[in-house]
This record gives sequence, C-alpha cells and structure tokens, in this order.
Amino acid sequence: MSLSALGREGSASPAVEGRSLVKSFGRTPALNGASVAVAPGEILAVMGPSGSGKSTLLHCLAGIFTPDAGEVYFDGRRIDRLGETRRSEMRRRDFGFVFQFGQLVPELTVEDNIALPLLLGQMARRDASATARSWLPRLGLDGLGPRRTGEVSGGEAQRVALARALVHHPKVLFADEPTGSLDSLTGEHVMELLVSLTRAEGTTVVLVTHEARVAAYADRMVLVRDGHVTVAEPPAVPSNPADASAARPHPPSLAR
Ligand SMILES: Nc1ncnc2c1ncn2[C@@H]1O[C@H](COP(=O)(O)OP(=O)(O)OP(=O)(O)O)[C@@H](O)[C@H]1O
Ligand SMILES: [Mg+2]
Repeated sequence: MSLSALGREGSASPAVEGRSLVKSFGRTPALNGASVAVAPGEILAVMGPSGSGKSTLLHCLAGIFTPDAGEVYFDGRRIDRLGETRRSEMRRRDFGFVFQFGQLVPELTVEDNIALPLLLGQMARRDASATARSWLPRLGLDGLGPRRTGEVSGGEAQRVALARALVHHPKVLFADEPTGSLDSLTGEHVMELLVSLTRAEGTTVVLVTHEARVAAYADRMVLVRDGHVTVAEPPAVPSNPADASAARPHPPSLAR
C-alpha cells in the first residue's frame, strides 16, 4: 500500500511518471519534489487543496511546462529535456486534454472542433469530418455536428471536448477539472463517458479534481499538498459507510 504513490504493484513500467519535480513561478513554489507514476490503462485521480500544485503537476507530466528540476517520463522515455517541437508533436499525437472550460474554438462547429486533432495529424479533411461525425452518437451529441460550439450547453461542450481529446486515440488523457464548470448530474454523465471511453481503449488517465465524487471514478487517488504528492488513504471519499465497502472498478456505484 505504501508504494501505491508509485503505481500499481507488479505493473509494467509506468505510462507516465514524474520524479522529484520542482517548479516555481517567480518566487512562488508550485511543486517541491513531487513524484508520481501512472500505470498503463490506469485512471489516477489527483486531489488536493486549491493552490497545492495539481495543475502544475499535470502540465509538467504532459510536457506543457518544463520542470525546474526532476524528470518526466512517457512510456519509459524521458521527455522533459526534449525540445519544444518534439514535445508539441508528442502532445498532439500521444496525449489528449480536457480542461475545466472545454477550450473549444467557439466559431467552429461541433464537428470541426472534434476533427481538429485529426486535421493537425494530417488526416484528409473528408476522413477527419467523417470520423468526427462518427463520435457524435457515442457522446449523445446526435444532430449537434453543424452547431457552433459557442451555442451549445456546458455539458454538451464538455462532451465535445472529450470527443476532441480522444478522437485521435491518445495514449494518455490529461483532464484538469473536466467537470468543474458543470452541475453534479451533468458532471456525472461526463465522467461516465470519460471512464467508459478510456477503459474501452485502455487509455491512461490523469484526472485532476477537487471533487471526491469525481475522484471516485478513478482506480487510485493521490493527494497533492504543498507541491508534494502523498498517498490518499481510503476513504478519501466523504464518509458514507455504504460507499466505503464498494469496489473501485465499477465507478458509477461510487458516484454519490
Ligand atoms: N502561471 C502562473 N504564474 C504564477 N504563479 C502560478 C502560475 N500557475 C500557478 N501558480 C501558483 O503555483 C501554485 C500552484 O498552482 P496550481 O495551479 O498548480 O494549483 P492547483 O492545485 O491546480 O489549484 P486549483 O485547485 O485552484 O486549480 C499556486 O500558488 C499558484 O498561485
Ligand atoms: Mg488547478
């Protein structure tokens, strides 16, 4: 149990790993020796107080921020010393991202937003559009393909963001408060889709969240405090005794 901050015991080498990460913004320390490893196909929830360093950790693991010290590995390869071109190529090809506010392009249609990663990956426009369209029913977005994303609801926008994050079959999905702007029922729907789609593909997930009910969808939870990663001792979900005995791999039963 004490090793669980470093990944599942006996698993293959981690899909993503940060070792002793240090990162400051000017004189503000954000990470202070944070280590975490995520096993292939694992859904890891990262929790912790506001300002503790969760988003900074996610951005370092995803190769968006370069840590001041420490090492980041993806698939066993060190990535924090790659140049920006190689890192952005890797992010585009191997990673998917969902943030609190979908970060969709509001002037583009739902379908075009979903197609973007495929177009950036040099897929022909016609194929990219057809693939994007094929994702709509899986996310309950039938009929919304031609709608501009500035004109859809918050829950619909997050589902579009999820489709866009997964359409190119990334190895890792990085989600930072993906349900943070949604009411709890809509958030649960988004989480159920996130979990079922990533499980089906064996996608590794790093999920930053404030909410215990969202973290309950994960296989494992870690806490970030003052820029360090610590193991979350169960029950990290608020004390409902009925939940404590529930099995983790079937998250919807833990959702409340
Ligand atoms: N771009 C930035 N410039 C300056 N300081 C930053 C920047 N990003 C983060 N910080 C600081 O680094 C620390 C960690 O921030 P981070 O965003 O990682 O926290 P967090 O755990 O994600 O918080 P929240 O739950 O509120 O999103 C905070 O003190 C924050 O103010
Ligand atoms: Mg944050």
